[in-house]
Amino acid sequence: MNLYGFRKWVVGVDEKVPLINGKRVTGINFDNGATTPPLISVMDAVNRFVPWYSSVHRGIGYKSRLSSQIYENGREVVGDFVGADPKRDVVIFTNNTTQAINKAAKKLNEKGGKEVVLSTVMEHHSNDLPWRDKFYVDYIGIDGDGRLDMEDLERKLKKYEGKVKLVTMAGVSNVLGYINPIHKAARIAHQYGAKIFIDGAQLVPHTYVDMKSHRDPEHIDFLAFSAHKLYAPFGIGVLIGPKEVFNGEPSDPGGGTVKFVTREEVVWNHPPQNEEGGSPNVIGVVALVQAIKNLRAIGMETIEAYEKQLTQYTIYKLSQIPDIEIYGDVYNIKDRLGIISFNVKGIPHQVTALSLSYEGGIAVRNGCFCAQPYVQALLKLSKEEVKAYIKDESRSRPGMVRISLGLYNTFQEIDRLAALLSCIVRNKKYYIDKYEGLEQLL
Ligand code: ALA
Repeated sequence: MNLYGFRKWVVGVDEKVPLINGKRVTGINFDNGATTPPLISVMDAVNRFVPWYSSVHRGIGYKSRLSSQIYENGREVVGDFVGADPKRDVVIFTNNTTQAINKAAKKLNEKGGKEVVLSTVMEHHSNDLPWRDKFYVDYIGIDGDGRLDMEDLERKLKKYEGKVKLVTMAGVSNVLGYINPIHKAARIAHQYGAKIFIDGAQLVPHTYVDMKSHRDPEHIDFLAFSAHKLYAPFGIGVLIGPKEVFNGEPSDPGGGTVKFVTREEVVWNHPPQNEEGGSPNVIGVVALVQAIKNLRAIGMETIEAYEKQLTQYTIYKLSQIPDIEIYGDVYNIKDRLGIISFNVKGIPHQVTALSLSYEGGIAVRNGCFCAQPYVQALLKLSKEEVKAYIKDESRSRPGMVRISLGLYNTFQEIDRLAALLSCIVRNKKYYIDKYEGLEQLL
């Protein structure tokens, strides 16, 4: 399979970036887990729309009516993309996944901290912190390879004897790219009377997602994802869940969330409008809808299969280089998708990341990827070691180097990465002397 023809439809992939020696090379972006570049079709759609851009739900001029219609129609395209039920689910537009999860946490918080939410050790902070002050949160553990421990899910559901309101987990880990068995988890959660929330930020752009019918025990109750990781970086995210959950008082009240207001009384709008305070981001919707159309035209299964091949090739190439420690399971990688984290033994992660960027024009992310508890566990840091880091802010942070792939990355780019990493491994002292302590460049 070959997505190379598609590469030319992605903005900026052939731009030359400067190196420390003053030369310029074609940049490589291996940081798609944070942000993907836009598709050209997305930029074209935005440019076509801009002359018609106007306020949404706030005017009766032609352009306002058109903008409102395009905005509302976007919900259908987005919901259909992930198999939401148009009658029972609501598609709420947010700024990003983090805001979506915060909204859901506020809406689901009915008993002021008395109910249980099961999150996981694997989560990005955005699917951990928003729950902490509103629920009693416990964490599903991981196994020796960093995979989710599904037996622990069941154990914890049993332990809390029906008090777990929600199980929440990443669809794909943003550190190791493990694809979690979300439908199996849904089936188990539902058996114990809990609902399931999937943080789809790293899942939805890379594979086919189906929330499944509400009658299906494997149904996904809530799903959140971001457009800036889906080739449509215009500041929009998505929260999907059962309409009835979002009735009533909004999580973020403001303009557009009400039907009627007096000094004494407020009549809230229906969902989704009550959850979309402030001027709606119609350009974000135009971009997201176009990205979805484009990805569907390629086929999500095609994208997944290609990115899996790239993942396999990356793990193979990195494992050939001595002194590279790849985290997670490198033997059975069927459930790994597009994200590979590693360290070069004897070199701080910052130095590796800086060297890749300044010497090779290769963009990666390093550190803990906003998933500190998981990275601490994978690095096998003791509680005392973590405490020492917290105490002494001047110490370099622990971490890893992360490659996160997009559908436009190529095998040749992996070869360039592997060649430079081999060079770094052979000349550790040179690179450490040159880049250690220069974190401020990051
Ligand atoms: N969640 C994003 C990442 O993993 C920010 O980089």
